[in-house]
Amino acid sequence: MGIIVSVTNQKGGVGKTVTVSSLAAALTQKGYKVLSIDLDPQRNLDVVAGKGLAIPLGDKSTKSMLDVLKGNCSLEDMIVPCGFGDLARASNLLSQWTGRHLITRSEYENFTIEEVCQLMSERYDQGWGTDDHKVLRSELSSVRKNYDFVLMDTNPSLTLLTINSLVAADYVLIPAFAEAASRDAITELWDTIKGLKAYNPDMRLKIAGILVTKFNARNRAAKKFVEVYERMAKRMGTIVFKQKIRQGVAVTEYLLSQQDLLKYDAYGNASLDYKSFANEFLTRINLMEEERSHG
Ligand SMILES: Nc1ncnc2c1ncn2[C@@H]1O[C@H](COP(=O)(O)OP(=O)(O)OP(=O)(O)O)[C@@H](O)[C@H]1O
Ligand SMILES: [Mg+2]
Repeated sequence: MGIIVSVTNQKGGVGKTVTVSSLAAALTQKGYKVLSIDLDPQRNLDVVAGKGLAIPLGDKSTKSMLDVLKGNCSLEDMIVPCGFGDLARASNLLSQWTGRHLITRSEYENFTIEEVCQLMSERYDQGWGTDDHKVLRSELSSVRKNYDFVLMDTNPSLTLLTINSLVAADYVLIPAFAEAASRDAITELWDTIKGLKAYNPDMRLKIAGILVTKFNARNRAAKKFVEVYERMAKRMGTIVFKQKIRQGVAVTEYLLSQQDLLKYDAYGNASLDYKSFANEFLTRINLMEEERSHG
């Protein structure tokens, strides 16, 4: 049965999409069967999945995750092959869902997670539907058997999309730059996870770890942040992955090439780091699965 991983950080531009696409590419190269799901109306994952795959703006006829979430089609019926395994594409109209913000990002700072969950249940009562946060989990329950891994790329804020992804996932992988804004976002995400678990005790979610991206070992402040992350990870019962993803120009360029980083710049530093990270990720997940099976 496939392992479901949400690649999440409520902060934008921290390497979620490059991590999903590169990890999917590395795992596919190793022979694993991988489904990548784009849950971000920006559709960047679809762009790097291969030329012509991203659904054009405003296109309502091509089946996307929006149709799945609205219950108009099953996940199985809209999956397409791509450069790194299989792909479930986003539509820019997914913002019809992200538009249903629990709260806006600017408001988030003023709420505790308990208040967010309270808000959630109030909004369900207002007609959101009590199971809207479980749609993806239920769709994945029949599809996961076809894969070794399901990787989800999420949008950078707390919406029904991110919540669906966290509720459906076995593991969350947190990409983060070694800088203050990313540190604060990790704390925010941890609060979100604790709050969601309190309201959804059947969630399986565990934190696989923090992956430091855009890393520059010569930057002393960045090295300090890694130490801070290690202390935070300990408190969160998780790890900072040993493999860091080095800063690389190719990561700023590959999107334009409409292919994943491992194809665009196979021997670049960041690609080599992602390949090596894939090995560490597999070891970590195997260990965590073993721990899970021993209760
Ligand atoms: N290893 C890296 N080296 C250099 N730049 C990087 C690296 N990782 C990420 N970046 C920069 O961060 C940008 C955002 O990366 P990416 O699109 O993967 O982030 P994201 O978290 O998915 O963003 P969003 O929240 O907008 O979806 C890249 O376009 C690139 O400029
Ligand atoms: Mg992204």
